[in-house]
Amino acid sequence: MTDLNYDVVVLGAGAAGLMAAIEAGKRGRSVLVVDHARNPGEKIRISGGGRCNFTNINATHTTGRERFLSRNPRFALAALSRYTPEMFIELVRRHGITWHEKTLGQLFCDGSATQIVGMLVAELRRAGGTLQLETEVEAVAKADTGFRLRLSTGTVTCDSLVVATGGKSIPKMGATGLGYQLAQQFGLAVTETRPALVPLTFEIGTLERLKPLAGISLDAEVRHGKTRFEEALLFTHRGLSGPSILQISSFWREGDAIHLDLLPGRDALEALRQARATTPKLHLPAVLATLLPRRLAQLVADELALPGMIGDFSDKRLASVAQRLEDWTVKPVGSEGYRTAEVTLGGVDTTGLDARTMQARDVPGLYFVGEVVDVTGWLGGYNFQWAWASGWAAGQAA
Ligand code: FDA
Repeated sequence: MTDLNYDVVVLGAGAAGLMAAIEAGKRGRSVLVVDHARNPGEKIRISGGGRCNFTNINATHTTGRERFLSRNPRFALAALSRYTPEMFIELVRRHGITWHEKTLGQLFCDGSATQIVGMLVAELRRAGGTLQLETEVEAVAKADTGFRLRLSTGTVTCDSLVVATGGKSIPKMGATGLGYQLAQQFGLAVTETRPALVPLTFEIGTLERLKPLAGISLDAEVRHGKTRFEEALLFTHRGLSGPSILQISSFWREGDAIHLDLLPGRDALEALRQARATTPKLHLPAVLATLLPRRLAQLVADELALPGMIGDFSDKRLASVAQRLEDWTVKPVGSEGYRTAEVTLGGVDTTGLDARTMQARDVPGLYFVGEVVDVTGWLGGYNFQWAWASGWAAGQAA
């Protein structure tokens, strides 16, 4: 039996792989996309609560350096400047998919994330690409020209191989370490990987203390070193979650504390002084309940254990309450891990890749795109924009 030959084989029918395949196909290259999952774009389907936060209008090369984490934060800028959020928005518009901006530049489908998957599959078909699902990748080797792949369905050869197998998050949905293994097999370095955009957990004692707060959500500023995010914070049965915590989880490391400002954008001391002047007979729990969700107010008041009416509080005492509201220091012990992490921090070291094409510097024809690369975006559409942009860049060259 003769091997099937394609110009380009893409491993992974996720966001980055489909984009790379579409673009290579549009250039007249014969393209095969291989995935072991039953359906393409499974992470797209579940993303953004089923509505896919498909890009962020701030994910441009001018803000990119700050909003993408990598050992080399400048690496992502070349691809991000070549394929912009506006270009993806134009694609979405052409397919009649309506969308809205939710907050902070985050664009979501009005309808369903499956529209984005449908759009990509339609584009792939139009570009003449072939999609082969439920197929295992058994071995990859360098051939005289290009690569030879042993798949569960047979052997395939190709000139260019695009690795778009994603990160390690949510193994239940088909995440594997294949991309990292291939990088190492071909001599590329892989930086340390860890779960990111993930809820943080507390040790049992803290959990017991904070148990009454599970389910409470409020706007907060969460700080770690010089990094801060002001978004919703959610107390859970395991620890802390919500967008502000997911964001900070990419920066937090074991042993670190994080700082919570429960009254972001407000002067806590001023608010307490006002309460002292206008409601002097109230006790602390009642005063705090005017500023915070009731159960949280009660817990903060219980822990401060300051008796008496607010009217009798000295400035110094008010300042200690304000300090607690604006800088509550908590020490998570861990995270929920890859089971719930939205992304993997770290990955294929960018020093081994050409930023313009995503091609391995020392292995002509081998490309790495999307989450498998050591580029991780903030929460809010940045990771899909990276997937589209890096996939697009490889698609122009593969
Ligand atoms: P992706 O993981 O999408 O695709 C990899 C593909 O490779 C998969 O189809 C997989 O089956 C396949 N594969 C893996 N191993 C293989 C193997 N050994 N053999 C064959 N195939 C293999 N981002 C964002 O910007 N906005 C959002 O709203 C969200 N929301 C969100 C929600 C949840 C719950 C998660 C888990 C993640 C998000 N994200 C997100 C992150 C986003 O989903 C992620 O960054 C992209 O999907 C990464 O795209 P890739 O194509 O690189 O990998």
